[in-house]
Amino acid sequence: MAPVRVAIAGSTGSIGTQTLEVIRAEGADRYVVAGLGAGSSADALIAQAREFRPAVVAVADGTARAVVAAALPGVEVVADQAELVDGAEVVINGVVGFAGLSVTVAALRAGTRLGLANKESLIAAGPVVQPLRSTPGAELVPVDSEHCAVHQCLRSSIDAREISRIVLTASGGPFRGRTADELAGVSVDDALAHPTWSMGPKITIDSSTLMNKGLEVIEAHELFGVDYDRIDVVVHPQSVVHSMAEFTDGSTIAQLSMPDMRLPIGYALGYPNRIGTAFGRIDWSTLSRLDFEPPDLTTFRCLGLAYQAGRAGGSAPAWLSAANEVAVDGFLAGLISWAGIADVCDAVLDEYEGSVPDTVDDVIAADATARRRASSVIEHRMAR
Ligand SMILES: NC(=O)c1ccc[n+]([C@@H]2O[C@H](COP(=O)([O-])OP(=O)(O)OC[C@H]3O[C@@H](n4cnc5c(N)ncnc54)[C@H](OP(=O)(O)O)[C@@H]3O)[C@@H](O)[C@H]2O)c1
Repeated sequence: MAPVRVAIAGSTGSIGTQTLEVIRAEGADRYVVAGLGAGSSADALIAQAREFRPAVVAVADGTARAVVAAALPGVEVVADQAELVDGAEVVINGVVGFAGLSVTVAALRAGTRLGLANKESLIAAGPVVQPLRSTPGAELVPVDSEHCAVHQCLRSSIDAREISRIVLTASGGPFRGRTADELAGVSVDDALAHPTWSMGPKITIDSSTLMNKGLEVIEAHELFGVDYDRIDVVVHPQSVVHSMAEFTDGSTIAQLSMPDMRLPIGYALGYPNRIGTAFGRIDWSTLSRLDFEPPDLTTFRCLGLAYQAGRAGGSAPAWLSAANEVAVDGFLAGLISWAGIADVCDAVLDEYEGSVPDTVDDVIAADATARRRASSVIEHRMAR
């Protein structure tokens, strides 16, 4: 069989580089890289392209694009990562934030399998992305470890009506067990010190506020069509049980492995088959305990805000996701405190006007409005 042609958007990030590790481990007879894309990391992208020899690379930043083009004669160099979709059989979307929307839309429109790590695009554009999932050949396989786990658990049932509940596990992040008062003065470095996962900065901050789990609740609703009253979150500090599905007969099926994103990435690459390389195998002789506890919704307000936005539907998730991106950038830049992230998201959601996006342009407009409002909330707080 010919090797599967894979395009990787966001190839220089945490998900992107781990995707290349899986491809390297599986070998060129199984997977070849058709395209690579990044924002502005020219040197890393050039090194990846020299090793994996894609026909096309995409670079969003104009200056970096010129550097990449000069270093890679004979390789097509484009601006938009959506162009990576042509010629690929599987697209891994590892772009961070709303910038990943064009890749999600292009991959599904082209009838390609999409390995989706970029949850923000599905959350912001759910009403627009959903119909694209029925494009002939299109398939959305989640790369987020929790949703990959649920995807695997649901394969044990042939009737969606048998799902009674989805339970998403959360590590609890670096601030698990701390009170709001104790977290008043935490630094960026404190928030970036994730106990179990090594990830890019945006999702690491989202994990510290539990916004990541909140976004994942919305993602689970969009992916599996389960209503919000039947999606629960449980804190599980070891990050070994990656999520669970409970069925009408009372059975709960869980997926377990050590925390290693190469497993869900490999699942998306190989689906519906399994890849041959094992990542995150469990050594049962050393795994002594698995703990579970309810999330603290008072200290970690972002989780509740995400349920609120998800239940409101329409553009509310787009507003929340955009406000959160601006707030996280503000926190990383030292403009607001850690607790300010929830304050900004709350203030922006309060102004939500109740629109429903029909087109990608509607989603882009909703995102822009929410970003403006979030920036203005931050400016007002700084002026106080
Ligand atoms: N990391 C994980 O373990 C993990 C787990 C589950 C889900 N996810 C999700 O996967 C996505 C990626 O996360 P990550 O941790 O891999 O992020 P990351 O390490 O920050 O990497 C982000 C990637 O996106 C590219 N990028 C950034 N801005 C861009 C833009 N405007 N246009 C085009 N490309 C742009 C970056 O390119 P440059 O290098 O040039 O900036 C980089 O390749 C997020 O949605 C996250 O929630 C990640």
